[in-house]
Amino acid sequence: MIKFDAEHAFLKESIKDYQAQVTACHEALMNKSGKGNDYVGWVEWPNTYDKDEFERIKNCAKRMREQCEVFIVCGIGGSYLGARAAIEMLNGLYGKKEPEIIFMGNTFSSTYIAQVMEYIKDKEVCVNVISKSGTTTETSVAFRLLKQFMEQKYGVKESGERIVATTDKARGTLKALADTKGYETFVIPDDIGGRFSVITSVGLLPIAVAGIDIDAIMSGLQEAYHDMASDDLDKNPAYQYAVCRRILQNADKNVEMLVTYEPSMTMVAEWWKQLFGESEGKEEKGILPCSATFSTDLHSLGQFIQEGKKVLFETLLLCEKPLVDMEFPADDENADQMNYLAGKSLDWVNKMACQGTLEAHEESGHVANLMITIPDMSAKSFGYMCYFFFRACAMTCYLLDINPFNQPGVEVYKKNMFRLLGKQ
Ligand code: PA5
Repeated sequence: MIKFDAEHAFLKESIKDYQAQVTACHEALMNKSGKGNDYVGWVEWPNTYDKDEFERIKNCAKRMREQCEVFIVCGIGGSYLGARAAIEMLNGLYGKKEPEIIFMGNTFSSTYIAQVMEYIKDKEVCVNVISKSGTTTETSVAFRLLKQFMEQKYGVKESGERIVATTDKARGTLKALADTKGYETFVIPDDIGGRFSVITSVGLLPIAVAGIDIDAIMSGLQEAYHDMASDDLDKNPAYQYAVCRRILQNADKNVEMLVTYEPSMTMVAEWWKQLFGESEGKEEKGILPCSATFSTDLHSLGQFIQEGKKVLFETLLLCEKPLVDMEFPADDENADQMNYLAGKSLDWVNKMACQGTLEAHEESGHVANLMITIPDMSAKSFGYMCYFFFRACAMTCYLLDINPFNQPGVEVYKKNMFRLLGKQ
Protein backbone atom coordinates (compact mmCIF):
# COMPACT_ATOMS: atom_id res chain seq x y z
CA MET A 1 0.00 0.00 0.00
CA ILE A 2 3.01 2.29 0.23
CA LYS A 3 5.43 2.91 -2.57
CA PHE A 4 8.85 4.15 -1.55
CA ASP A 5 11.09 5.66 -4.22
CA ALA A 6 14.67 6.85 -3.72
CA GLU A 7 15.38 7.38 -7.42
CA HIS A 8 15.52 11.16 -7.02
CA ALA A 9 17.72 11.24 -3.91
CA PHE A 10 21.29 11.30 -5.32
CA LEU A 11 22.30 8.61 -2.81
CA LYS A 12 26.08 8.35 -2.50
CA GLU A 13 25.92 4.96 -0.76
CA SER A 14 24.05 1.80 -1.62
CA ILE A 15 21.01 1.02 0.54
CA LYS A 16 21.94 -2.67 0.47
CA ASP A 17 25.28 -1.94 2.14
CA TYR A 18 23.29 -1.37 5.34
CA GLN A 19 21.69 -4.84 5.34
CA ALA A 20 23.80 -6.27 8.19
CA GLN A 21 23.17 -3.25 10.43
CA VAL A 22 19.47 -3.28 9.59
CA THR A 23 19.22 -6.98 10.43
CA ALA A 24 20.89 -6.40 13.81
CA CYS A 25 18.59 -3.44 14.60
CA HIS A 26 15.52 -5.38 13.43
CA GLU A 27 16.41 -8.25 15.75
CA ALA A 28 16.94 -5.85 18.65
CA LEU A 29 13.49 -4.34 18.00
CA MET A 30 11.73 -7.68 17.66
CA ASN A 31 13.54 -9.38 20.58
CA LYS A 32 13.04 -6.31 22.76
CA SER A 33 16.76 -6.12 23.41
CA GLY A 34 17.36 -2.66 21.92
CA LYS A 35 17.41 0.75 23.59
CA GLY A 36 14.10 1.78 25.14
CA ASN A 37 12.74 -1.76 24.89
CA ASP A 38 10.05 -1.05 27.53
CA TYR A 39 8.22 1.01 24.92
CA VAL A 40 7.93 -1.29 21.95
CA GLY A 41 4.35 -2.38 22.60
CA TRP A 42 3.32 -0.75 19.30
CA VAL A 43 5.30 -3.34 17.29
CA GLU A 44 2.86 -6.18 18.00
CA TRP A 45 -0.14 -3.92 18.69
CA PRO A 46 -1.86 -4.72 15.37
CA ASN A 47 -2.30 -8.28 16.75
CA THR A 48 -2.40 -7.73 20.49
CA TYR A 49 -4.69 -4.73 20.91
CA ASP A 50 -7.45 -5.19 23.47
CA LYS A 51 -10.56 -6.15 21.44
CA ASP A 52 -12.96 -5.50 24.33
CA GLU A 53 -11.61 -2.01 24.85
CA PHE A 54 -11.81 -1.46 21.10
CA GLU A 55 -15.55 -2.30 21.15
CA ARG A 56 -15.98 0.00 24.15
CA ILE A 57 -14.31 2.81 22.16
CA LYS A 58 -16.81 2.33 19.34
CA ASN A 59 -19.77 2.31 21.74
CA CYS A 60 -18.54 5.37 23.58
CA ALA A 61 -17.95 7.19 20.29
CA LYS A 62 -21.51 6.40 19.19
CA ARG A 63 -22.88 7.77 22.44
CA MET A 64 -20.75 10.93 22.19
CA ARG A 65 -21.83 11.51 18.59
CA GLU A 66 -25.47 11.38 19.66
CA GLN A 67 -24.93 13.59 22.68
CA CYS A 68 -22.92 16.55 21.44
CA GLU A 69 -22.50 19.22 18.80
CA VAL A 70 -18.93 19.92 19.89
CA PHE A 71 -16.46 17.29 21.03
CA ILE A 72 -13.45 18.71 22.84
CA VAL A 73 -10.23 16.73 22.76
CA CYS A 74 -8.00 17.96 25.58
CA GLY A 75 -4.36 16.84 25.28
CA ILE A 76 -0.94 17.76 23.92
CA GLY A 77 1.97 16.16 22.04
CA GLY A 78 1.38 12.47 21.55
CA SER A 79 -1.96 12.85 23.30
CA TYR A 80 -3.16 15.25 20.60
CA LEU A 81 -1.34 15.25 17.27
CA GLY A 82 -2.28 11.81 15.94
CA ALA A 83 -6.02 12.24 16.38
CA ARG A 84 -5.96 15.65 14.75
CA ALA A 85 -3.80 14.39 11.88
CA ALA A 86 -6.21 11.53 11.19
CA ILE A 87 -9.38 13.58 11.49
CA GLU A 88 -8.16 16.35 9.18
CA MET A 89 -6.72 13.96 6.61
CA LEU A 90 -9.70 11.61 6.53
CA ASN A 91 -12.56 14.09 6.78
CA GLY A 92 -10.93 17.04 5.05
CA LEU A 93 -10.78 20.55 6.52
CA TYR A 94 -14.30 21.47 5.45
CA GLY A 95 -15.81 17.99 5.29
CA LYS A 96 -17.81 16.09 7.93
CA LYS A 97 -18.36 18.36 10.91
CA GLU A 98 -20.85 16.51 13.09
CA PRO A 99 -19.86 16.76 15.79
CA GLU A 100 -17.34 19.55 15.43
CA ILE A 101 -14.02 18.49 16.95
CA ILE A 102 -12.08 21.15 18.85
CA PHE A 103 -8.64 20.66 20.35
CA MET A 104 -7.67 22.14 23.71
CA GLY A 105 -4.99 21.47 26.29
CA ASN A 106 -2.31 22.00 23.65
CA THR A 107 -1.46 25.63 24.51
CA PHE A 108 -1.33 28.15 27.35
CA SER A 109 -2.59 30.89 25.02
CA SER A 110 -5.22 32.84 26.93
CA THR A 111 -6.72 34.08 23.68
CA TYR A 112 -7.14 30.56 22.31
CA ILE A 113 -8.52 29.13 25.54
CA ALA A 114 -10.89 32.01 26.28
CA GLN A 115 -12.24 32.07 22.73
CA VAL A 116 -12.93 28.33 22.73
CA MET A 117 -14.72 28.63 26.08
CA GLU A 118 -16.83 31.47 24.68
CA TYR A 119 -17.53 29.54 21.45
CA ILE A 120 -18.82 26.43 23.22
CA LYS A 121 -20.90 28.12 25.89
CA ASP A 122 -24.29 27.62 24.19
CA LYS A 123 -23.47 24.33 22.48
CA GLU A 124 -23.98 20.71 23.49
CA VAL A 125 -20.53 19.56 24.56
CA CYS A 126 -18.68 16.35 25.39
CA VAL A 127 -15.02 16.17 26.42
CA ASN A 128 -12.23 13.63 26.06
CA VAL A 129 -9.29 14.49 28.31
CA ILE A 130 -6.16 12.59 27.33
CA SER A 131 -2.96 12.38 29.34
CA LYS A 132 -0.75 9.40 29.97
CA SER A 133 1.03 11.00 32.90
CA GLY A 134 -2.13 12.72 34.05
CA THR A 135 -0.09 15.74 35.11
CA THR A 136 0.76 17.63 31.90
CA THR A 137 0.30 21.31 32.70
CA GLU A 138 -1.24 22.54 29.43
CA THR A 139 -3.80 19.73 29.59
CA SER A 140 -4.51 20.24 33.31
CA VAL A 141 -5.05 23.98 32.89
CA ALA A 142 -7.56 23.52 30.08
CA PHE A 143 -9.26 20.57 31.73
CA ARG A 144 -9.91 22.39 34.99
CA LEU A 145 -11.74 25.10 33.00
CA LEU A 146 -13.64 22.50 31.00
CA LYS A 147 -14.61 20.48 34.07
CA GLN A 148 -15.96 23.57 35.83
CA PHE A 149 -17.81 24.63 32.67
CA MET A 150 -19.35 21.17 32.24
CA GLU A 151 -20.39 20.89 35.89
CA GLN A 152 -22.00 24.32 35.80
CA LYS A 153 -23.78 23.60 32.54
CA TYR A 154 -24.89 20.01 33.13
CA GLY A 155 -24.46 19.36 36.84
CA VAL A 156 -21.97 16.93 38.33
CA LYS A 157 -23.83 13.73 37.37
CA GLU A 158 -24.50 14.49 33.71
CA SER A 159 -21.09 16.03 33.19
CA GLY A 160 -19.67 12.73 34.50
CA GLU A 161 -21.41 11.04 31.57
CA ARG A 162 -20.20 13.62 29.06
CA ILE A 163 -16.54 13.52 30.04
CA VAL A 164 -14.29 10.61 29.11
CA ALA A 165 -10.70 10.23 30.31
CA THR A 166 -7.91 8.44 28.45
CA THR A 167 -5.00 7.86 30.79
CA ASP A 168 -2.82 5.36 32.61
CA LYS A 169 -4.66 2.26 33.85
CA ALA A 170 -3.88 2.90 37.49
CA ARG A 171 -1.58 5.86 38.16
CA GLY A 172 -1.79 9.63 38.06
CA THR A 173 -4.08 12.42 39.19
CA LEU A 174 -6.28 12.17 36.10
CA LYS A 175 -7.06 8.52 36.79
CA ALA A 176 -7.91 9.37 40.41
CA LEU A 177 -10.13 12.28 39.34
CA ALA A 178 -11.87 10.14 36.70
CA ASP A 179 -12.62 7.44 39.27
CA THR A 180 -13.99 9.98 41.75
CA LYS A 181 -16.19 11.66 39.15
CA GLY A 182 -17.30 8.43 37.47
CA TYR A 183 -15.92 9.26 34.02
CA GLU A 184 -15.63 6.39 31.58
CA THR A 185 -11.91 5.70 31.19
CA PHE A 186 -9.74 4.26 28.44
CA VAL A 187 -6.26 2.94 28.96
CA ILE A 188 -3.00 4.14 27.45
CA PRO A 189 -0.83 1.01 27.43
CA ASP A 190 2.29 1.19 29.60
CA ASP A 191 4.55 0.06 26.78
CA ILE A 192 3.41 2.53 24.11
CA GLY A 193 4.77 6.09 24.29
CA GLY A 194 2.79 9.19 23.40
CA ARG A 195 4.03 9.66 19.86
CA PHE A 196 3.22 6.03 19.00
CA SER A 197 -0.21 6.15 20.65
CA VAL A 198 -2.51 7.29 17.83
CA ILE A 199 -3.28 3.60 17.24
CA THR A 200 -4.54 3.16 20.83
CA SER A 201 -7.57 4.67 22.55
CA VAL A 202 -5.63 7.98 22.59
CA GLY A 203 -6.24 8.45 18.88
CA LEU A 204 -9.00 5.97 18.19
CA LEU A 205 -11.70 7.47 20.41
CA PRO A 206 -11.58 11.02 18.96
CA ILE A 207 -11.16 9.57 15.48
CA ALA A 208 -14.25 7.38 15.94
CA VAL A 209 -16.22 10.34 17.33
CA ALA A 210 -15.34 12.17 14.12
CA GLY A 211 -17.21 9.44 12.23
CA ILE A 212 -14.15 7.63 10.88
CA ASP A 213 -14.05 3.85 10.51
CA ILE A 214 -11.50 2.72 13.11
CA ASP A 215 -11.84 -0.93 12.02
CA ALA A 216 -10.33 0.19 8.72
CA ILE A 217 -7.45 1.91 10.55
CA MET A 218 -6.70 -1.34 12.39
CA SER A 219 -6.90 -3.32 9.16
CA GLY A 220 -4.34 -0.97 7.56
CA LEU A 221 -2.15 -1.40 10.60
CA GLN A 222 -2.36 -5.20 10.35
CA GLU A 223 -1.57 -5.17 6.65
CA ALA A 224 1.47 -2.96 7.31
CA TYR A 225 2.58 -5.27 10.13
CA HIS A 226 2.69 -8.18 7.67
CA ASP A 227 4.27 -6.17 4.85
CA MET A 228 7.00 -4.80 7.13
CA ALA A 229 7.80 -7.98 9.02
CA SER A 230 10.95 -8.71 7.07
CA ASP A 231 14.39 -7.30 7.78
CA ASP A 232 15.24 -7.73 4.09
CA LEU A 233 15.91 -4.30 2.63
CA ASP A 234 14.56 -5.41 -0.74
CA LYS A 235 11.20 -6.13 0.87
CA ASN A 236 10.71 -3.56 3.61
CA PRO A 237 9.95 0.01 2.43
CA ALA A 238 10.03 1.40 5.98
CA TYR A 239 13.59 0.18 6.43
CA GLN A 240 14.56 1.51 2.99
CA TYR A 241 13.33 4.94 4.08
CA ALA A 242 15.16 4.61 7.42
CA VAL A 243 18.43 3.81 5.66
CA CYS A 244 18.02 6.61 3.10
CA ARG A 245 17.72 9.11 5.93
CA ARG A 246 21.04 7.91 7.34
CA ILE A 247 22.72 8.02 3.92
CA LEU A 248 21.45 11.55 3.31
CA GLN A 249 22.61 12.71 6.72
CA ASN A 250 26.03 11.22 6.00
CA ALA A 251 26.04 13.54 2.99
CA ASP A 252 25.46 16.50 5.33
CA LYS A 253 21.73 16.82 4.78
CA ASN A 254 20.70 17.62 8.33
CA VAL A 255 17.19 18.87 7.63
CA GLU A 256 14.32 16.78 6.24
CA MET A 257 11.33 18.61 4.84
CA LEU A 258 8.18 16.49 4.68
CA VAL A 259 6.17 17.83 1.78
CA THR A 260 2.50 17.16 1.16
CA TYR A 261 0.29 18.55 -1.56
CA GLU A 262 -2.86 18.37 0.57
CA PRO A 263 -3.69 21.12 3.10
CA SER A 264 -5.66 18.51 5.03
CA MET A 265 -2.39 16.63 5.59
CA THR A 266 -0.59 19.54 7.23
CA MET A 267 -1.32 17.99 10.62
CA VAL A 268 -0.02 14.63 9.42
CA ALA A 269 3.26 16.46 8.89
CA GLU A 270 3.01 17.96 12.41
CA TRP A 271 2.45 14.46 13.81
CA TRP A 272 5.41 13.13 11.77
CA LYS A 273 7.61 15.99 13.06
CA GLN A 274 6.92 14.97 16.65
CA LEU A 275 7.51 11.31 15.84
CA PHE A 276 10.90 11.85 14.24
CA GLY A 277 12.01 14.97 16.12
CA GLU A 278 11.29 13.70 19.63
CA SER A 279 12.57 10.21 18.83
CA GLU A 280 15.80 11.11 17.07
CA GLY A 281 16.85 14.54 18.31
CA LYS A 282 19.11 13.63 21.19
CA GLU A 283 22.80 13.19 22.06
CA GLU A 284 23.46 16.03 19.58
CA LYS A 285 22.43 13.72 16.76
CA GLY A 286 19.48 13.48 14.43
CA ILE A 287 17.89 15.14 11.41
CA LEU A 288 15.78 18.25 12.03
CA PRO A 289 12.28 17.49 10.74
CA CYS A 290 10.38 20.34 9.15
CA SER A 291 7.44 20.43 6.80
CA ALA A 292 5.75 22.29 4.00
CA THR A 293 2.45 22.12 2.17
CA PHE A 294 2.84 22.62 -1.55
CA SER A 295 1.99 24.36 -3.74
CA THR A 296 1.12 26.93 -1.02
CA ASP A 297 4.63 27.00 0.44
CA LEU A 298 6.29 27.06 -2.96
CA HIS A 299 5.30 30.72 -2.88
CA SER A 300 7.36 31.20 0.30
CA LEU A 301 9.85 28.44 1.14
CA GLY A 302 10.16 27.41 -2.50
CA GLN A 303 12.84 30.04 -3.05
CA PHE A 304 15.04 28.66 -0.27
CA ILE A 305 14.63 25.08 -1.40
CA GLN A 306 15.54 25.96 -4.97
CA GLU A 307 18.48 28.28 -4.36
CA GLY A 308 19.27 28.49 -0.64
CA LYS A 309 21.94 26.68 1.38
CA LYS A 310 21.96 22.98 0.56
CA VAL A 311 21.15 21.72 4.05
CA LEU A 312 17.95 19.84 3.35
CA PHE A 313 16.37 16.96 1.54
CA GLU A 314 12.68 16.63 0.78
CA THR A 315 10.46 13.66 1.52
CA LEU A 316 7.31 13.84 -0.57
CA LEU A 317 4.28 12.25 1.05
CA LEU A 318 1.91 11.80 -1.87
CA CYS A 319 -1.58 10.37 -2.36
CA GLU A 320 -2.52 8.75 -5.64
CA LYS A 321 -6.20 9.55 -5.19
CA PRO A 322 -7.53 12.68 -3.49
CA LEU A 323 -10.42 12.66 -1.03
CA VAL A 324 -12.51 14.68 -3.49
CA ASP A 325 -11.83 15.84 -7.03
CA MET A 326 -13.56 18.32 -9.33
CA GLU A 327 -13.38 19.45 -12.92
CA PHE A 328 -12.15 22.92 -13.79
CA PRO A 329 -14.88 24.70 -15.78
CA ALA A 330 -14.68 26.41 -19.18
CA ASP A 331 -15.58 30.09 -19.29
CA ASP A 332 -17.02 31.74 -22.41
CA GLU A 333 -15.30 35.06 -21.68
CA ASN A 334 -11.95 33.51 -20.72
CA ALA A 335 -10.94 36.92 -19.33
CA ASP A 336 -8.53 35.19 -16.94
CA GLN A 337 -7.07 33.15 -19.83
CA MET A 338 -7.48 29.96 -17.85
CA ASN A 339 -9.41 27.99 -20.46
CA TYR A 340 -6.32 25.90 -21.19
CA LEU A 341 -7.26 24.00 -18.03
CA ALA A 342 -10.96 23.65 -18.85
CA GLY A 343 -12.16 20.08 -18.43
CA LYS A 344 -9.08 19.04 -16.46
CA SER A 345 -9.41 17.72 -12.93
CA LEU A 346 -7.99 19.89 -10.14
CA ASP A 347 -6.13 16.87 -8.79
CA TRP A 348 -4.42 16.48 -12.17
CA VAL A 349 -3.32 20.14 -11.94
CA ASN A 350 -1.98 19.45 -8.42
CA LYS A 351 -0.08 16.41 -9.69
CA MET A 352 1.44 18.39 -12.57
CA ALA A 353 2.57 21.02 -10.04
CA CYS A 354 4.19 18.20 -8.07
CA GLN A 355 5.95 16.78 -11.13
CA GLY A 356 7.19 20.20 -12.23
CA THR A 357 8.44 20.98 -8.73
CA LEU A 358 10.23 17.67 -8.41
CA GLU A 359 12.03 18.35 -11.70
CA ALA A 360 12.93 21.89 -10.60
CA HIS A 361 14.20 20.91 -7.17
CA GLU A 362 16.06 17.88 -8.44
CA GLU A 363 17.56 19.10 -11.72
CA SER A 364 18.47 22.73 -11.13
CA GLY A 365 18.08 22.92 -7.34
CA HIS A 366 20.13 19.72 -6.73
CA VAL A 367 17.88 18.87 -3.79
CA ALA A 368 17.51 15.18 -2.96
CA ASN A 369 13.92 13.92 -2.96
CA LEU A 370 12.55 10.76 -1.35
CA MET A 371 9.02 9.80 -2.33
CA ILE A 372 6.44 7.97 -0.22
CA THR A 373 3.15 7.36 -2.02
CA ILE A 374 -0.05 6.09 -0.44
CA PRO A 375 -2.97 5.02 -2.62
CA ASP A 376 -5.64 7.26 -1.14
CA MET A 377 -6.76 9.28 1.86
CA SER A 378 -8.67 6.41 3.47
CA ALA A 379 -8.70 5.19 7.07
CA LYS A 380 -6.96 2.00 5.99
CA SER A 381 -4.15 3.93 4.31
CA PHE A 382 -3.82 6.12 7.39
CA GLY A 383 -3.34 3.05 9.62
CA TYR A 384 -0.88 1.58 7.16
CA MET A 385 1.07 4.84 6.93
CA CYS A 386 1.32 5.15 10.73
CA TYR A 387 2.88 1.73 11.03
CA PHE A 388 5.24 2.47 8.15
CA PHE A 389 6.50 5.60 9.90
CA PHE A 390 6.76 3.85 13.30
CA ARG A 391 8.94 1.10 11.85
CA ALA A 392 11.04 3.60 9.89
CA CYS A 393 11.49 5.79 12.95
CA ALA A 394 12.60 2.95 15.22
CA MET A 395 15.02 1.65 12.59
CA THR A 396 16.53 5.02 11.69
CA CYS A 397 17.14 5.76 15.40
CA TYR A 398 18.63 2.35 16.11
CA LEU A 399 20.96 2.82 13.13
CA LEU A 400 22.14 5.98 14.91
CA ASP A 401 22.42 4.12 18.24
CA ILE A 402 19.72 6.36 19.76
CA ASN A 403 16.90 5.36 22.11
CA PRO A 404 13.84 6.32 20.01
CA PHE A 405 11.36 6.01 22.84
CA ASN A 406 12.38 8.54 25.49
CA GLN A 407 12.41 12.35 25.48
CA PRO A 408 14.68 13.50 28.33
CA GLY A 409 15.23 16.92 26.75
CA VAL A 410 11.62 18.06 27.08
CA GLU A 411 11.90 18.15 30.87
CA VAL A 412 14.33 21.09 30.91
CA TYR A 413 11.83 23.81 29.98
CA LYS A 414 9.26 22.35 32.35
CA LYS A 415 11.63 22.62 35.32
CA ASN A 416 12.25 26.30 34.58
CA MET A 417 8.59 27.00 33.94
CA PHE A 418 7.53 25.34 37.21
CA ARG A 419 10.10 27.44 39.11
CA LEU A 420 8.75 30.61 37.52
CA LEU A 421 5.15 29.56 38.15
CA GLY A 422 5.90 28.86 41.80
CA LYS A 423 5.03 25.16 41.64
CA GLN A 424 6.23 23.26 44.72
O1 PA5 B 1 5.51 11.80 23.02
C1 PA5 B 1 5.38 12.12 24.19
O2 PA5 B 1 5.61 11.32 25.08
C2 PA5 B 1 4.90 13.50 24.58
O3 PA5 B 1 4.66 14.30 23.50
C3 PA5 B 1 3.62 13.38 25.37
O4 PA5 B 1 2.68 12.69 24.60
C4 PA5 B 1 3.06 14.72 25.78
O5 PA5 B 1 4.01 15.41 26.53
C5 PA5 B 1 1.79 14.56 26.59
O6 PA5 B 1 2.01 13.77 27.70
P1 PA5 B 1 0.83 13.18 28.54
O7 PA5 B 1 0.06 12.24 27.69
O8 PA5 B 1 1.49 12.49 29.70
O9 PA5 B 1 -0.03 14.33 29.00
